[in-house]
Amino acid sequence: MLNIALPKGRLGEKVYKMLEAAGYACKDVLGDSRKLIFTDERSGVSYFWVKPSDVAIYVERGVADVGVAGKDILAESGADVYELLDLRIGRCKMAVASVNGYREDLSRPLRVATKFPHIAAAYYGGKNREIDIIKLYGSIELAPILGLSDVIVDIVETGSTLRENNMSVIEEIFPISARLIANKACYKFKGGEVDAAVERLQKELPDD
Ligand code: PRP
Repeated sequence: MLNIALPKGRLGEKVYKMLEAAGYACKDVLGDSRKLIFTDERSGVSYFWVKPSDVAIYVERGVADVGVAGKDILAESGADVYELLDLRIGRCKMAVASVNGYREDLSRPLRVATKFPHIAAAYYGGKNREIDIIKLYGSIELAPILGLSDVIVDIVETGSTLRENNMSVIEEIFPISARLIANKACYKFKGGEVDAAVERLQKELPDD
């Protein structure tokens, strides 16, 4: 039995459809119920619906053998898991952004508002730039508009949130997409099963 952590939401639904096409169908996973665990003996899978930012924890701790998480979540959590496959969906980028016309004052620490403090710290650490991190949980774009921060480190997908708030990207940090991850110990004793899943999924990936 392969235990799979799926990120709740639109990305998770897309991922499930790829897994279903790859031969891992499970009845009612996409239904309207509030159920969190679905098992299908015939396909040999159990699915758990997990908050997207928690997927890496479930997999790192081994209660899920594999899971799907965005590169942003993986980079932020620093989870010790194997990254097996880029699923080429959920594409966006991690970027630094601010209000249009913003000019950096190099004489003082940069105030950075973000949901991703580890990513921001690593990025500016690599540039030897001193920063003051302001951890927020949503609507990050508000911070520089209201003067809470100088810049944000956040996800940009279509760019419309930035555009509609007179903001723009200053620097791109890294591209993001959904990744299939595996628990390291589970991979040792279920490696064959996991590799078979990777191989089947590879045939279902969207074109580049
Ligand atoms: C994310 C992100 C940006 C927005 C980017 O927020 O934090 O605000 O999406 O998408 P866009 O480039 O297509 O406009 P999310 O929708 O997750 O909500 P949040 O404000 O609660 O973080």
